[in-house]
Amino acid sequence: MELLLIGGYKTTVPEWERPTGDESTTVLNVPERRISCVDFGFGCDMLVTRRIVQLTDCHLFADPSRELREFVTWSRFMTVLQDVRQRIPEFDLLVMTGDTAHDEAFETYQSVRGLLGPWIEKLKIIPGNHDDRRFLNDVFPETRGGLAERITFESRWENWRAIGLDSHITGQTSGSLGDEQRAWLRTRLQARPSLHTVLFLHHPPVLVQSPWLDQIRLQDATEFEQLLRDHPQVRVISCGHVHQEITASFAGGTLITTPAVGPQFRPRSEQLEIEPGPPGYRVLELHPDGRWSSQTLFCQ
Ligand SMILES: [Fe+2]
Repeated sequence: MELLLIGGYKTTVPEWERPTGDESTTVLNVPERRISCVDFGFGCDMLVTRRIVQLTDCHLFADPSRELREFVTWSRFMTVLQDVRQRIPEFDLLVMTGDTAHDEAFETYQSVRGLLGPWIEKLKIIPGNHDDRRFLNDVFPETRGGLAERITFESRWENWRAIGLDSHITGQTSGSLGDEQRAWLRTRLQARPSLHTVLFLHHPPVLVQSPWLDQIRLQDATEFEQLLRDHPQVRVISCGHVHQEITASFAGGTLITTPAVGPQFRPRSEQLEIEPGPPGYRVLELHPDGRWSSQTLFCQ
């Protein structure tokens, strides 16, 4: 038990759950944000809502002036960071869900790290098809997860946790989790079945009604769905890759995709078509009782 003085009252704050010893797990222990009501006679805990900002598909280059389909992606990334500073002044986690670097260059990741500044402490980053897993590991060593060949993460709070998965297949545009990672995920979910869970991965496991994108979705979606059917605590799965927003039911939970920081894709198109529009991102609010809500935000 830990004593804190909050608002002039002396109260007790019980220790949070401790790590299991797995380096892939981060327990965000911020005791001053949790106030026990025991000393006030309420017999309940005042738990706080956790907030996650998701950025995806930045498609950045080592050369900051380089364009992707007539968009300067660094300019869009800077615009999004400024928008987050203004509209989401407080959040618990910054999750980047892949295709951070279009050129897969070491220098690109270094520039991203330099720009995020103090947000690095809140950053979790997983690869997309355009990323280089080795360079991600080199530039963001603190984000390295528990699987040797993958970049994963797990962050836990009182009633919620966020797990990041790695669907990158080197040399391919489509994605896959693979047997080993799905077994790892099953172990994590079985260990704490009472925790409401949000999953992040780059490749969505559902059709988005654009044939060219549906061909390059998550290839082991059926196995992934079977796994999640056994774990109803997975409430929401949030992906990138498709550069547009969709919402779908999946394995008893809700699957969402997030607009890109880079160029947006036109929904329901046979071939790649760019949808004119500003960069976007997502914010998720995870409430202590298991409810959650989410918004996509576009920069003006
Ligand atoms: Fe992308």
